Amino acid sequence: MRIAVLGANGQLGSDVVAEARRRGHEVVELTRAKLDLERLEAIPTALGAVAFEALVNATGYHRTDEAEAQAQLAFTINAHAVERLALVCAEKKARLVHISTDYVFDGLADRPYREDDPPGPLNVYGASKLAGEGLARRAHADTVVLRVASLFGVAGSSGKGGNFVETMIRIGREKGQLKVVGDITMSPTFTADVARILLELLEREAPPGVYHAVNSGRATWFDFARRIVERAGVKAVVERISSDQYPTAARRPAFSALDNSKAARVAGEIPPWEEALDRYLALKGYR
Ligand SMILES: NC(=O)c1ccc[n+]([C@@H]2O[C@H](COP(=O)([O-])OP(=O)(O)OC[C@H]3O[C@@H](n4cnc5c(N)ncnc54)[C@H](OP(=O)(O)O)[C@@H]3O)[C@@H](O)[C@H]2O)c1
Repeated sequence: MRIAVLGANGQLGSDVVAEARRRGHEVVELTRAKLDLERLEAIPTALGAVAFEALVNATGYHRTDEAEAQAQLAFTINAHAVERLALVCAEKKARLVHISTDYVFDGLADRPYREDDPPGPLNVYGASKLAGEGLARRAHADTVVLRVASLFGVAGSSGKGGNFVETMIRIGREKGQLKVVGDITMSPTFTADVARILLELLEREAPPGVYHAVNSGRATWFDFARRIVERAGVKAVVERISSDQYPTAARRPAFSALDNSKAARVAGEIPPWEEALDRYLALKGYR
């Protein structure tokens, strides 16, 4: 398959590129230099000139706190640009795989969210990503939306400057102490595992629609930090704090673990986050 990857240098995008090549697909890497999503009017011509059978949109404006004061930019990149990508895919009869987020949910569920649970974003970022999902699916029936969450990948997030795992290891080593929020539960997820799920969905021609592509299990940020420190051999005390003690500009769902069983029915068993973290730490030379 000829697969174009937008955000090819990002944390997730770079793993999608590597996984697709490993499986023998032809990959077209698209970066901001070739296609800047802020320039909405340029998208049809720039993307129209590229030949592909599937487009993966791994871009995003995802600085959650900054987005509260940057709604226009967030909606441009996460929603309006995505609609234009979908329209080009519709013209080319190419499948669109669009990456979305667990932050489309309000966090009030008492079990991991399924794909058809009603969304209710609490912040601008989540609202803009939800708008992107809807606009893409309305513009192009052959759209797969992959909701991912709390990503860690070898490339680190360019948008956020690293990832949570690296931050915990760095601060843990520097200060010997970490204070981490223990009342927010989510699905820690290794980008290499998302890339594998994504390629399985493409190769198996999974029906269009929404899929939750996260590692199995769930954790609070405190649980996650404790495990990182322990498995990376960092000598640091991890103290549990509440989100009230760590105020942020954007509200976040208290519970956003995702149920990945729909994706697993197509892609096969999805490893638990603890095992994924060990693989990540080994790749980075921490274990
Ligand atoms: N990181 C998380 O924990 C998390 C959680 C849930 C969902 N997600 C979603 O997962 C996706 C990938 O996240 P990630 O962690 O891989 O992020 P990342 O490393 O920051 O990658 C984002 C990519 O988007 C590109 N991009 C941003 N603005 C662009 C623009 N105007 N035009 C063209 N490209 C642009 C970036 O290019 P530059 O390098 O040039 O900036 C980068 O390649 C995003 O859709 C995000 O919303 C992430």
